[in-house]
Amino acid sequence: MRVSLRFFGRMLLLTIALTAFLPRVTLAGTIDASRPTVFVTGANRGIGLAFAQHYTGTGWNVLAAVRAPDRATELLELAKSYEHLIIEQLDVTDNERIAALADAYRNTPIDVLINNAGVYGDTEKQAWGSIDAVTFHQVLAVNVFAPMKLAEAFSDHVAASEQKKIVSITSGAGSVSRDGRAGGGMFYGISKASLNMAMRQIRAELEGRDVIVALIAPGLVATDMLAVARPSLFANANTPTQSVVGIAAVIESLDESYDGRPRNYNGAVIPW
Ligand SMILES: NC(=O)c1ccc[n+]([C@@H]2O[C@H](COP(=O)([O-])OP(=O)(O)OC[C@H]3O[C@@H](n4cnc5c(N)ncnc54)[C@H](OP(=O)(O)O)[C@@H]3O)[C@@H](O)[C@H]2O)c1
Repeated sequence: MRVSLRFFGRMLLLTIALTAFLPRVTLAGTIDASRPTVFVTGANRGIGLAFAQHYTGTGWNVLAAVRAPDRATELLELAKSYEHLIIEQLDVTDNERIAALADAYRNTPIDVLINNAGVYGDTEKQAWGSIDAVTFHQVLAVNVFAPMKLAEAFSDHVAASEQKKIVSITSGAGSVSRDGRAGGGMFYGISKASLNMAMRQIRAELEGRDVIVALIAPGLVATDMLAVARPSLFANANTPTQSVVGIAAVIESLDESYDGRPRNYNGAVIPW
């Protein structure tokens, strides 16, 4: 028993040591201080990639955070033709890495922080009769705690910018006031309702700093997530580009009159 404990101890130390050397790459573009800056998480595919494409297309500095930069093929391709795109490694559940990035960019005002990265969670493990604790924690860690931590870590960068906007991508599945099942997985809906409350709390925390804390839903969008979550709706969903054009217009329109309630990508108010 003592031998196997020592063995596991060594394996744990080895794992920690190896993890410390995992690539935490920054793929360098440059920040042009005369341009607005957006920071978007989960920028390698789906809606996040469409955000990177949209904001590079409109001339912004784009800080594109992805879990695995070497596998972010489309972003890497985009970076070849656009100088002000910087690809940063970030697993949004890695709080140390969030702090390191916040420190690395301490002198960079961030006009718009977009908490886009999200997970749906294994469908079976959130089905009634087989709800699973580990899956629940994973979904909440990515969909709720990470956006809170990112908002906290980057609130000074946002407050120092011209536009001062923190945007979290929510979903109609998080509407508590809707009758019956909002559709989709139980954990996912709970996570988006929690995200909505989290951003309400953060809005209150940041009161007086002129920071707009917004919740925007993308509608049904044909991404990997929808293919798993609601495959029957995939064919009639918007493309990521269509959704992001709408979301970007909503972001642009946000001003001090914004009341904090979730908006759809077409600007409609979504009930809490
Ligand atoms: N598609 C829809 O119809 C729909 C509807 C309502 C709301 N939403 C919301 O829209 C957002 C984007 O979803 P999507 O449809 O584009 O989904 P997607 O295609 O599945 O993409 C999810 C993105 O999140 C990233 N991600 C997941 N866990 C992460 C982690 N721990 N650290 C860093 N990145 C992580 C993924 O990176 P990897 O490639 O590394 O996994 C990927 O880039 C999500 O918040 C989702 O809840 C989508």
